[in-house]
Amino acid sequence: MTAAIGTDIDWAASLIASGGLVAFATETVYGLGANAFDARAVARIFEVKERPQFDPLIVHLGDAAWLSGVVLSVPPLARLLIDTFWPGPLTLVLPKTERIPDLVTAGLPTVGVRMPSHPSALALLQLAKVPIAAPSANVFGHVSPTTAQHVAEQLGERIDYILDGGPCTVGVESTILDVSGEQPTLLRPGGLPVEVIEAMIGPIRVAGSTSGQKEPQLSPGRLSRHYATRTPLTIADRDRTPPAERRIGLLTLVAKPGDERYAAVEVLSLGGDLSEAAANLFAAMRRLDARGLDGIEARLVPESGLGRAINDRLRRAVRRSDESPAC
Ligand code: TXA
Ligand code: MG
Repeated sequence: MTAAIGTDIDWAASLIASGGLVAFATETVYGLGANAFDARAVARIFEVKERPQFDPLIVHLGDAAWLSGVVLSVPPLARLLIDTFWPGPLTLVLPKTERIPDLVTAGLPTVGVRMPSHPSALALLQLAKVPIAAPSANVFGHVSPTTAQHVAEQLGERIDYILDGGPCTVGVESTILDVSGEQPTLLRPGGLPVEVIEAMIGPIRVAGSTSGQKEPQLSPGRLSRHYATRTPLTIADRDRTPPAERRIGLLTLVAKPGDERYAAVEVLSLGGDLSEAAANLFAAMRRLDARGLDGIEARLVPESGLGRAINDRLRRAVRRSDESPAC
């Protein structure tokens, strides 16, 4: 049976409170939520997403005051970031309390927490009265959903309800910052530009590349291939025209002369605006993926502001030659 899509927040909250799985809109992407204190409900998230259990989940809070039940302490730097950027697309990694099941954090002593700014996510949290553990509401490794319809297409038959909050306005996942150690460390660029955080707290260390995947448990969003389309995606060579015998689609920030030679073109922002591009990114990837193309070429965007998050997702969508196709 396919999960209902609707806007009944009371029903969605009652499902969460009774151990159900509800997909809900946040400002970044749709999340697949369960009561973060309920290990059985959280276990279903992993089943439904086909997500490996070494990949920890983000815990969503309805109010910063809820932190006391979820994390052991909030250092002054974390407090400053919370006061400034919450609610919003910033996840902070902090030492967890006993109340958070090990399954949520994949056995790590820390937990990723954030307070989303989307009104329906906040209303859901406040009515459910419990923190909600939620990864992005897609099958593991695939493109994250930015509409209720995207969730229905991939997970509709496996979950209890989809709370429709319209298209996500940010469009890429939250920025993840580990503030559990001496020095703040960027684990994933995302919806809150790093420059904005650095303007407040100074330079941020960037976690080492996981190309050798030495620390996969640390942040599997950094696994080399994630956010993948089924159609092989490559990063476009500058100025190269696509081979005529193959049907290649193009994903680009702005259109350029000659782009009409591609079999399909997705322009992320007519005016070259990176925020608009981020909001369109995953839906554009899905549309190209649905065209039955032989390949997708993606042009990288300027590496600033939300451009960092966009380029990060594009690079991770590339299938390396030693990997099997996504299924
Ligand atoms: O915007 C978002 O963050 C969305 C919405 C739904 O809130 N959520 C999201 O969740 O992107 P997910 O599961 O797709 O990505 C969460 C990432 C994972 O890569 C995970 O490894 C990392 O957060 N993470 C969670 N807890 C962590 C921890 N304790 N230490 C390091 N990384 C952690
Ligand atoms: Mg995800």
